[in-house]
Amino acid sequence: MMRSILFVTATALATTLGVTALSGPTFAMATVGEQAPAKTTNSGVYTAEQAERGKKVFEAKCTACHDTARFTGEVFLDPWAGKPLKDVWDIASGTMPEDNPGSLQQQEYGDIIAYFLHLNAFPTGDTELKGDATAMAAIKIEKKP
Ligand code: HEC
Repeated sequence: MMRSILFVTATALATTLGVTALSGPTFAMATVGEQAPAKTTNSGVYTAEQAERGKKVFEAKCTACHDTARFTGEVFLDPWAGKPLKDVWDIASGTMPEDNPGSLQQQEYGDIIAYFLHLNAFPTGDTELKGDATAMAAIKIEKKP
C-alpha cells in the first residue's frame, strides 16, 4: 500500500517537472521534494539558432518601446538574479507587448527570452528553451560566474 502511494507521488512530481527537467543531467542530482530550480541560465538552456529567431521577433514586436539595453547586463540581471526565469516569462507572455498583451505565440515569447539570454552572453546548449511556464520555472536566473 505504502509503496504504491510513493510511486504515484514520484510520478506526479516527474510530470510536474516536465520533460525538459528530466532530460538534464542535473535532475539526477536533485532530491525529491526540492523546491529550487535544478538548472540555471548558465546551464546551456537555449540554442543560438533560437536566439536568432527571438531577435527577429523582438525587433518586430518590442523595439517600439524597448531598446535591447533594457534587457542587457546589470539593468536586467540585478533585479532578476536568483529568481526563476518564469518571473520574466510571466511579464513577457502575460503583459507584453504592452499595447497588445499575449498576442504572440507561446514559443515566440520563449524565443525572445532566449534572445535575452544571448544578450547577456549566457552559454548556449543543444536544446531549445521551451515556451511554457513549467519549463521556465525550472530555470533559475543566475549571473555569469
Ligand atoms: C507599447 C509599449 C511596449 C511594447 C510594444 C512592449 N513593451 Fe515591454 N514594457 C513596456 C513598459 C512601459 C514596461 C515597464 C517599464 C520597464 O520596465 O521598462 C515594460 C516592461 C517589460 C518587461 C519587464 C522588464 C523588467 O526587467 O522588469 C519585460 C520583460 C518586457 N517589457 C518585455 C517585452 C517584450 C518581450 C515585448 C515584445 C513582445 C515588449 N515588452 C513590448 C512597454 C512595452
